[in-house]
Amino acid sequence: MIQKIPVAILGATGTVGQKFVRLLANHPWLEIKALAASASSAGRVYGDVVKWRETVALPAGVAGMVVRECAPPLSGQIVFSALDADVAGPIEQEFARSGAYVVTNTRTHRMDRDVPLLIPEVNASHLALIDGQRKGRGWAGAILANPNCSTAALALALAPLHQAFGLTRLFVSTMQAVSGAGYPGVASLDILGNVIPHIAGEEEKIERESRKILGTWQHDEVLPAEFAVSAHTNRVAVVDGHMMTVSAGFSRRVSIEDAVRALREFRPPASIVELPSTPSPCVEVDGRTDRPQPRLDIDRGGGMAVTVGRLRPCPILDLRLVLLGHNTVRGAAGQGIQIGELLVAEGRVKREGGGERPS
Ligand SMILES: NC(=O)c1ccc[n+]([C@@H]2O[C@H](COP(=O)([O-])OP(=O)(O)OC[C@H]3O[C@@H](n4cnc5c(N)ncnc54)[C@H](OP(=O)(O)O)[C@@H]3O)[C@@H](O)[C@H]2O)c1
Repeated sequence: MIQKIPVAILGATGTVGQKFVRLLANHPWLEIKALAASASSAGRVYGDVVKWRETVALPAGVAGMVVRECAPPLSGQIVFSALDADVAGPIEQEFARSGAYVVTNTRTHRMDRDVPLLIPEVNASHLALIDGQRKGRGWAGAILANPNCSTAALALALAPLHQAFGLTRLFVSTMQAVSGAGYPGVASLDILGNVIPHIAGEEEKIERESRKILGTWQHDEVLPAEFAVSAHTNRVAVVDGHMMTVSAGFSRRVSIEDAVRALREFRPPASIVELPSTPSPCVEVDGRTDRPQPRLDIDRGGGMAVTVGRLRPCPILDLRLVLLGHNTVRGAAGQGIQIGELLVAEGRVKREGGGERPS
């Protein structure tokens, strides 16, 4: 039997933490060895303390695990962090210093120059930033960041168009699900039958992070892409799935047919296609006039595919489209796990005792 790689989850009781637990339950390469959360949960049995909100039964293997405090050492060379952003920084640094590869979902380190902000299908080469990070900070491990949940879907859908036509201007308006605010999140009396036209810090994150992700790797650093971004973010009464309407301008002429072809023909590098969490295709184009819709399309590719629809000319910029991504899968736990898989595939994390990577 093949030995799996042990992993730990920080913030395991929260919305994103629960998604990690669900997605890792039967993972072919990785195995949960430790769960950690705040001091009020630590020392208690996970099944007793978690307010389980996933639509499958709590996996038997983790239900009886005792929740630990968020401090090293915890079993696991890979540590997935789904911590509240207000507390994540020093905790994640402590784990990286002590030798763990911390894949973080929080905003804290995303824009650090030496921290890769990864969408494996788009910019796996940026992983090399951790070499300078480890050297510069004197850490035995490293921090790798997952983008903000709306940026993850947006940048993945735009990557094929940026590569083919050179993005120059981007206007995006989001309709973001309530699960994006964690649990219990937005009060039901605030969101039912309503739209809230503000999500703190979200517009700035989309503007900064999309340029870093689509940036170029040059002389051991990432040069941000130079397109201008105008983002409007809204919270809507949807459970899961961030939808976005986009207008985009490009440096080269782009027809609708060319854009559809670029999206449909987009293929990540072979080494990324082979990762267990990489969906095929990672960008789906839906030609129906009323799609994508969160309730109908959110689980495409196991929640890892981004769906693009309504491609049409834009009278102000060049192209208009609608896109949809799963905020806790592509935008958090699913892609976090895919980054963990990338560490294994690149040989940066090995099974105890060495040997081949699990297949
Ligand atoms: N929800 C999304 O769609 C989404 C998507 C992308 C990124 N993110 C980011 O992912 C992170 C987690 O989000 P979430 O939605 O899962 O939030 P959440 O449901 O509020 O969960 C927060 C987690 O952090 C733990 N925590 C809180 N204070 C702590 C402390 N002082 N020490 C240790 N652990 C502590 C909580 O443990 P207790 O249960 O013990 O309090 C809980 O496990 C945030 O940084 C968020 O911005 C969220």
